[in-house]
Amino acid sequence: MTVQPIRLFGDPVLRTPADPVVDFDAELRRLVADLTDTMREQNGAGLAAPQLGVSLRVFTFDVDDVLGHLINPVLEFPDEEEQDGPEGCLSIPGLYFDTKRRQNVVAKGFSSFGDPMQIVGTGLMARCVQHETDHLDGVLFLDRLDPERRKEAMKAIRQAEWYDAAAPPTVKLSPHLSDPFGLGR
Ligand code: NI
Repeated sequence: MTVQPIRLFGDPVLRTPADPVVDFDAELRRLVADLTDTMREQNGAGLAAPQLGVSLRVFTFDVDDVLGHLINPVLEFPDEEEQDGPEGCLSIPGLYFDTKRRQNVVAKGFSSFGDPMQIVGTGLMARCVQHETDHLDGVLFLDRLDPERRKEAMKAIRQAEWYDAAAPPTVKLSPHLSDPFGLGR
């Protein structure tokens, strides 16, 4: 188990849709351990495999003293309720912006041993699960911001000391066909 370097905004791996996990083997469990250790060392609420440069559909979470992971997640939204509050990302360090998310989510997937698992999340846990699943689709929370907030966020990123102007990042629209936030995107 090792703490690994986290890929920062502008790294193409963060914009690459991740592949489904096929082999539930020791290597996968090492990945989950690395994600867990790195997330905890950074006091993060969640971490997705692409953030460690591994393009697989795996994320870990540590929310309200519940520590876990989910493989090949599929999200379902039991209702239309929304939340709006500050969100950040370990790949966009030090910056937080109000982001609209669904308030309730049911995430179905698998454990690292291939057993079916389900997370029923509300509030912060629901926000975390949506944020991390987005990472697996190459989507960042910036893409979910209202246009005004996104403009503000991009300005803050360009001024951040970690920002690499040689590897300019991109903001893209969500690949999801549905429009769960009613933003017309
Ligand atoms: Ni993130």
